[in-house]
Amino acid sequence: MIDATKYGPWAVITGGSEGIGATMAGDLAESGINVVLIARKPEPLQQVADHVRAKGVRARTLSLDLTDPAMLDQVREVTDDIEVGFLAYTAGSTHRTGPLVEWALEDVIKVIRLNVDGQAVLSHYFGGRMVERGRGAIILFGSNAGVAGSPTVAPYAGAKAFSQIFSESLRWEMKQHGVDVLHVIVGATNTPAMERLGIVYPGDMGVGGDEVARFALENITNGPVVVMPHLVEAVRERTITDRRAATEMNASRIMATTKTANN
Ligand SMILES: NC(=O)c1ccc[n+]([C@@H]2O[C@H](COP(=O)([O-])OP(=O)(O)OC[C@H]3O[C@@H](n4cnc5c(N)ncnc54)[C@H](OP(=O)(O)O)[C@@H]3O)[C@@H](O)[C@H]2O)c1
Repeated sequence: MIDATKYGPWAVITGGSEGIGATMAGDLAESGINVVLIARKPEPLQQVADHVRAKGVRARTLSLDLTDPAMLDQVREVTDDIEVGFLAYTAGSTHRTGPLVEWALEDVIKVIRLNVDGQAVLSHYFGGRMVERGRGAIILFGSNAGVAGSPTVAPYAGAKAFSQIFSESLRWEMKQHGVDVLHVIVGATNTPAMERLGIVYPGDMGVGGDEVARFALENITNGPVVVMPHLVEAVRERTITDRRAATEMNASRIMATTKTANN
């Protein structure tokens, strides 16, 4: 159970329409916390909202592209009258791969807006109110791609590295005000978004979105950074001062994954 007196009465979950975000919404609802679900497609949002309401809490949905530079105005329209004690920013995958120079500039900017601007803007906004109230939590999602240079996803890898260092900094600033900040390093996870890309990780490589959501919720107070258990060794290997070697490890992993996905 999640402490609703500390992290309620409302949670905002970006990417709340499926996978990791939808599981978090359900678990928060079971603890009596109301949810605001944000994603682009309205139908999956409604489905999760109905599922959550059936557990006896309130749910609001906001169909919004978080890469819209004016997104905060829309988020405020649905949250200004409620007290948000929990922010989970799960949306963040890149759906584009390849050398940077082959990406459309628009896609580069979108990945950075979604992960860097989006996390910073909502953490600034909701974090400020949580600090005033002296309680709350912010969970930001990273990737093993952000632990070391990751060719073919350079903007994404850089954005996830931002997320980790940003979370580490915030954790120390906010802890003294009763606000928990956590960055979760996620890797190969079978989510609907990955399935749409045709990527299914075999059992020994990947985990389910439910596992990631529950691991994050169990570790709210264990910030600044937690690593999904199946990735601990890989992250340890990449946290070395020889950055060329670290990058080559990620390069080999990415090439192997691409091969698996194409087979
Ligand atoms: N799956 C993996 O293997 C893996 C590996 C490492 C890290 N991660 C991290 O784990 C988190 C979740 O990943 P995921 O695989 O579930 O895919 P995801 O695409 O990051 O998340 C899917 C959710 O985010 C919403 N979303 C995506 N882009 C959005 C946008 N621009 N504006 C608003 N909502 C948006 C989706 O709904 P709509 O499509 O309707 O907008 C859906 O609800 C991400 O931060 C990702 O970087 C995942």
